[in-house]
Amino acid sequence: MANIVIIGTQWGDEGKGKLVDLLAADADVVVRFQGGNNAGHTMVVDGEQFISHLIPSGILQKKTCIIGNGLVVDPEVLLGEIDYLAGKGISVGPDNLMISDRAHVIMPYHKLVDNGREKMKGDKKIGTTGRGIGPCYEDKATRRGVRFVDLIDPESFQERLKTIVPEKNFYLDKFLNTETVDQETIRSQYMGFAQRLKPYVTNVSVALQKACKAGQCILFEGAQGTHLDIDHGTYPFVTSSNTVSGNACGGGGVGPKDINGVLGIVKAYTTRVGAGPFPSELFDEIGDQIQKSGAEFGATTGRRRRCGWLDTVILNNAVRLNGLTGLAITKLDVLGELDELKICTAYSLNGEVIDEVPANLNHLAACKPVYETLPGWRQNIRAIRRYEDLPELARQYLSRIEALTGVPIQIVSVGPGRDETIVLN
Ligand code: GTP
Repeated sequence: MANIVIIGTQWGDEGKGKLVDLLAADADVVVRFQGGNNAGHTMVVDGEQFISHLIPSGILQKKTCIIGNGLVVDPEVLLGEIDYLAGKGISVGPDNLMISDRAHVIMPYHKLVDNGREKMKGDKKIGTTGRGIGPCYEDKATRRGVRFVDLIDPESFQERLKTIVPEKNFYLDKFLNTETVDQETIRSQYMGFAQRLKPYVTNVSVALQKACKAGQCILFEGAQGTHLDIDHGTYPFVTSSNTVSGNACGGGGVGPKDINGVLGIVKAYTTRVGAGPFPSELFDEIGDQIQKSGAEFGATTGRRRRCGWLDTVILNNAVRLNGLTGLAITKLDVLGELDELKICTAYSLNGEVIDEVPANLNHLAACKPVYETLPGWRQNIRAIRRYEDLPELARQYLSRIEALTGVPIQIVSVGPGRDETIVLN
């Protein structure tokens, strides 16, 4: 296996966790390069469920896991996750987990700002997870951030707090009309986190270069999805980082020549959490049925996901933006109860047929999906392990996806378990 980036092609929740967990078996190092604990991966191994928010899913495969500089990390959540995994018999230590010294730290005021702003917005909410991710990235961009290298140096941490906290308190109190923070309380709490996390903090770019030179295989694990990318997604209903494959370089600390392939994870239908346009959304009983059979609730927030047909306009946007070299289709089993399936192949916008995603959200919201209809296979496929054993109509659905995207399907997932997978040659 070469160095591969795994990317969600839709709006997240495509099942990247399962795929990363599976592919990590052949990798030596697994790297997360963006986002924070707003991502949630669910992995099922031997019937036991594991949920991770920050630590790369490769931890279950006992691989070296890396939290890259592109992440924003809540140290309390990270420590909680280390303890949760330890409780499940998976030991996490500096030998199998590294945190970039340049990754930014989520502070208590970031969460207060996040929640305070969402409250002020009323029904115009972006639907953030309230975990301080956006405000932390904001501080990174405006150079008010705290990096892990600052956290583990008590003097520089104190210095940073002295300049940042008064400004934050002014904003929290006078503008958001919400509670303020106490500098000393933060200092002592975060020094406790620093003490435990210091052994994990390192220059991960150097570690990755060493891994490359040693011929090790690296898996870059994307979180969220292409259409939540801050530049290329359905702005402003997006996350606060670049989720596209290119950011594996920026957020991991490697150059493009170290990436050999990009695997796009495609849910066999489309889902979306929170607000924002979604052209192929279903508002009928078929949508409810998909939602129920697919158990479409967020791993992190428990929010109900909106469901709709597969949209290849969205998918082809992801093919182009990420330079996808292969596709992994997930949750194909969920469609097994339907008489017929639709694939959105284009949009009709004010009488014109278009095949790209408009940047103007009012235009995207006005897009009517142009559908192709295919017969359903009406069969439980979860026990199938070979492509040729899939029902003819399921293979027809998959071939149509390949034809519409021009990208080969490499993996088909037919259930949440690690073994419920068909790998194509
Ligand atoms: P984000 O990074 O937050 O986007 O997460 P994710 O892409 O890893 O997806 P998440 O784990 O939130 O959701 C996927 C859900 O689908 C999990 O509950 C998985 O166990 C489950 N799942 C994954 N693959 C399949 C599949 O092929 N069939 C079925 N039925 N469930 C699956």
